Amino acid sequence: KRVAVSWDIGYVADTRAGHTLRRAIGANGMLPIPPVAATVGDTLELTVHNSLDTTTTIHAHGLFQRNATYMDGPAMATQCGIPPGASFTYVYELDNAGTFWLHGHDHHQNSDGLRAPMIVHDKPGTEPFAYDQDILLPVEDWFHDEFADRIKQTIDPNATFPPPHGYASGLINGTDGDSTRPLRFEPGRTYRLRLINMSALMWFQFSLPGHKLEVIEIDGEYTAPLSVDGIDIGPAQRYSVLVSAYPTVAANFVYNVTMHANFIPPTAGLTPRTYIGQVVYREGAPRAATIAPAHGSPDFQWLHDIELQPLDGQPALVPDRRISLEVGNLVYSTGQHLDHINNITYTAPKVPTLLTALSMGAAAADPRVYGPQTNAVVLAHNEVVELTVNNPGDLPHPLHLHGHTFQIIEVGPAMTQLKIPEEYQSTTVRCAGPFPPRRDTAVVPEYSYIKIRFRADNPGVWFFHCHMDIHFAMGMAMVFVEAPDILQQTLRVPQEMLDFCRARDIPIAGNAIG
Ligand code: C2O
Ligand code: CU
Repeated sequence: KRVAVSWDIGYVADTRAGHTLRRAIGANGMLPIPPVAATVGDTLELTVHNSLDTTTTIHAHGLFQRNATYMDGPAMATQCGIPPGASFTYVYELDNAGTFWLHGHDHHQNSDGLRAPMIVHDKPGTEPFAYDQDILLPVEDWFHDEFADRIKQTIDPNATFPPPHGYASGLINGTDGDSTRPLRFEPGRTYRLRLINMSALMWFQFSLPGHKLEVIEIDGEYTAPLSVDGIDIGPAQRYSVLVSAYPTVAANFVYNVTMHANFIPPTAGLTPRTYIGQVVYREGAPRAATIAPAHGSPDFQWLHDIELQPLDGQPALVPDRRISLEVGNLVYSTGQHLDHINNITYTAPKVPTLLTALSMGAAAADPRVYGPQTNAVVLAHNEVVELTVNNPGDLPHPLHLHGHTFQIIEVGPAMTQLKIPEEYQSTTVRCAGPFPPRRDTAVVPEYSYIKIRFRADNPGVWFFHCHMDIHFAMGMAMVFVEAPDILQQTLRVPQEMLDFCRARDIPIAGNAIG
C-alpha cells in the first residue's frame, strides 16, 4: 500500500510550556507535527515543501534505507538540502516494524520543532506480542531560544551559565508536561506504551510506580520481554513496554516523566524536573501516589539496555575489523569549545559525501578523497565492524548510527590517563550475553567506553554522531562510506536531488551519477 503524507515546512509562532512567543518550525502550520503511521510492506511517500528561508532535509530515524541511501536525509552526507521554495518526495520502503521518528537533518531544525513520531505496525496477525491498545508517549525538551542562538552561546569562549533565557521545559505528546492528559486504563487490559525521546539535548526517565514495564522493543528491534520498574531514555532512543492493568480497580496511579540535563551540575538547581501524569482506572478512586525512587534504590529496578536480548536470538557477531574512537571536547586556540571524534571536529564537506563516493571510481575506497574534516571511514561490503568508543569526559553521549542497528557488546570504565572522579573509578565492566541487544542509538556514559558491532551489509553513506544536537553541531560526528564500489554499480540518485546541488553551484562530477 502507498501512504502519502505531505509536509509544508515553515515557521510557526509557538508559546507552548508557558514560554514567551518564539519562532519555531512546524509542518502545515502545525506544531507539534502529528505522528505518522504505516504498516510493514507499505511505501511511505513524504512530500516535503520547503517554506523556510534556508535549506531543509528530513531523516527517518531508524529506517535502514536499503538500496536507497540517498533517501536518508542528512544534509551534505547523502544530499544537498532542499532549497527554499522547492519540494521533494522522500520514498520510504517500510521493511521493519517498530517505533521511529522523522526529523529535520539540516541546520539542526529538529531542535526548533521539526520532529514527529513515526510508527511502523506489523502486518495484522504477525505481531509477536499481544496487547489491547497502542499508546504513543513522545517526550521532548523545548527551549526558549532558537537553536542558532543556543549554539553560538555554547561555542562562545565567554559563554555564561545558565544561558540568558534559562533551560528547556519538557513536553509530553507535544504539550506542556504539566498539563498532560491522563492515561485511561481499563482493568485487565494490556497496553503498549511507545516512549520516544525526540529531544535536542535532554534525557528522560519514565516509570509507572505500582506497575511493571515489560520491555519488548528498543529502537525498532524486538527484544525478549524483560520486566523493569523504570527506564532512562537518551535523546533519539525509543522503547516499547507492555503494561498490564490490574484486574480490578484498587486505586488510580501516576506516571513519572523526569527530565534530566546530564550536563547541568545538580547544584544549579535546574534539573531534574519531574512531570506527573495520571493513570486513571476510575474517576474518584483513591490515588496511589508514588514518585519513582532515584537510581540505586534496591527494590526499584532501572533498565540496563545491555541486559536485553533480541527476540530473534541472533548471536554476537565476530568482528573482522576493530576501530577505536575517542569522543570529547576540544578548546581551540580561538578559545572556542568544539567537540571531536579522534581529534577531528566534523565539518560538512562542500560536496555531499555520497556524490563524492559515486564520482571517484576506484579512488572512492581511499578515505582521503572525502576530506579530512568528514572523518570518513570506508567499509568493505559485509565486513563486521567493532567500534570501541572511549569517552574520558564528564558528559554522556547518545551515539546514533544511520542505516543500521548495532549490537551492544560491552560498557566499562574509560581508558584514560586523565584523573577520573572517585565515584566513577570503581565502575565495573558490563558485558552482553551471547545474544547481545541491537539498537540504533546507544549511550556511552561519562568516564566510560562502549563496544558495539555491526555488519556492513547496507551499501551507503551513513552518519555516526552524538544525538545531543549541540554536540552534533559542535562536530561530534563522522561518516561511514560503506561499499562505494557497489554504490557506483547500483545507485542512481534522483535527478531532482542533483538539481538541488546545481542550484547552489555545488560541483558534482563523474558519470556514475544521475
Ligand atoms: Cu536522528 Cu543523524 O539522526
Ligand atoms: Cu554528546
